[in-house]
Formats: sequence, C-alpha cells, structure tokens
Amino acid sequence: MDFLEDSVLHIGAEAKVWSGTFLGKQAIKKVRKPRSWRHPSLDHRLGTKRMLNEAKLLIRLFNSGLDVPALLDVNLEDGYLIETRLEGDELKAKLAGDYELEIKHNFLKETGKAIRKLHCLAITHGDLSTNNILIHNQKARLIDFGLAKVEYDLEGFGIDLHVIDEILSASNPDIDGAIDYVLQGYASENNQSIEGEGGNIPSSDDVIERLEEIRTRVRYHD
Ligand SMILES: Nc1ncnc2c1ncn2[C@@H]1O[C@H](COP(=O)(O)OP(=O)(O)O)[C@@H](O)[C@H]1O
Ligand SMILES: [Mg+2]
Repeated sequence: MDFLEDSVLHIGAEAKVWSGTFLGKQAIKKVRKPRSWRHPSLDHRLGTKRMLNEAKLLIRLFNSGLDVPALLDVNLEDGYLIETRLEGDELKAKLAGDYELEIKHNFLKETGKAIRKLHCLAITHGDLSTNNILIHNQKARLIDFGLAKVEYDLEGFGIDLHVIDEILSASNPDIDGAIDYVLQGYASENNQSIEGEGGNIPSSDDVIERLEEIRTRVRYHD
C-alpha cells in the first residue's frame, strides 16, 4: 500500500474519505462503505459502478484541462479510489463563514462558472451540493464525480442547476437570491451552443430557461 493515512476527512453514506499521502503527494482515499441493508453482491455492483464512473470521468476531465483532482489509483476489488487532494474549503463552510456578503456572492459566481465549464465538456455532475464544491483563492473547483455523466439532453444540465438551487434556498436563506449569483457566473462563462462529439451542448441561456421550467414543474407537483 502506497497510501499513508493521516486523518478521516469525511464519513458519508457511500464512502469514507481519508486524507493522507500517496507516494509523497497530498492525496485522499475514498473507500466504499458496504451498506448492510443491501444484498452484498448487489451492493458491490452498485458501489463499484459509481467508483468506476468517478475514475473514468476524473481522467476525462483532467485531460480536458479542468481543475479537478488527478486520479492516482483505483482498486475496484477492494473498493477504493485515490486522487490528489485539492486545496480549498467546501463552499458550504465558506457560505457559513465570516465573509462580507459581496465575497460570498463571488464564491457563488465562481461556482456558476465552474459548473458551466463542466457542462461545456458535455458532462453533468449529478450531485451538486455545497460540499462537492471547493473554494480556493476565490475560485471554485468541483469534486465527487460518482454520479456524473456524459450528457447532451438539455434536461440533465437544467437538473444540475436545480439541485444547487434547492440546496442553496434550503441551507442559505440568509443569502438573498444566492442562486442568481450562480446563474450570473454560469451565463458569463460561455453562452454559446457548442457542437460536442455526441450532439449539441445547449447555450447557458437555454439551460437557465430549462431551470425555470423545472422549477415550475416542481412547484406544480408539490
Ligand atoms: N480530491 C479532494 N481534495 C480535497 N478534498 C476532498 C477531495 N475529495 C473529497 N474531499 C473532501 O471529502 C468530502 C467527501 O468526499 P466526496 O468525494 O464528496 O465523497 P462522498 O461521495 O462521500 O460525498 C468532500 O466533501 C471534501 O470535503
Ligand atoms: Mg460528496
């Protein structure tokens, strides 16, 4: 084993995340947690799928020049993945921190930019919570790609924005119109419709319009 553990960073429903070093590099190790209520072989298949997905997408995004962790090792049999540790604090902590409102608005704008950069590569994140976004030097970086996927359908992009919208309104009602800053950043990054390998990636205006539609749909169903 080349990973030397220092401390536990996070214990989630799906994985336990360790901080440490891998061949001298600052790294994190994400270890899949067995879920006792599921049949063991089914559990293994689901967890493995998510981990393999995360590994594949990390390689793809890293090679595209996105500011994501580099994949260092993956072992599906033992259920772990090792990646470089990115500096930064979770957006969740930053928004709860003692910063001027204008600075918090900027974290949110940078978050929007980072999401759009991901979308421009035809990838949706699938789990955009404020602890899957790290802020470092006023820039946002996305992590946790277990549910990410290659996407060309407008709905998938809209849902990414809807997830962060719901989380911000539930957890940060103190920051008035938080999602609007995210959308500002999103729209400022690249508003073109882009021709991807498997279809067209929608313009940011179209994605934001879809978000409005999703909101209306959700309200109607409540
Ligand atoms: N590459 C990384 N660099 C720095 N911190 C990380 C990294 N990966 C995960 N973390 C930290 O560990 C937490 C949990 O990791 P995450 O990949 O989101 O696992 P989970 O699937 O359990 O949510 C993150 O919210 C973040 O604080
Ligand atoms: Mg996470």
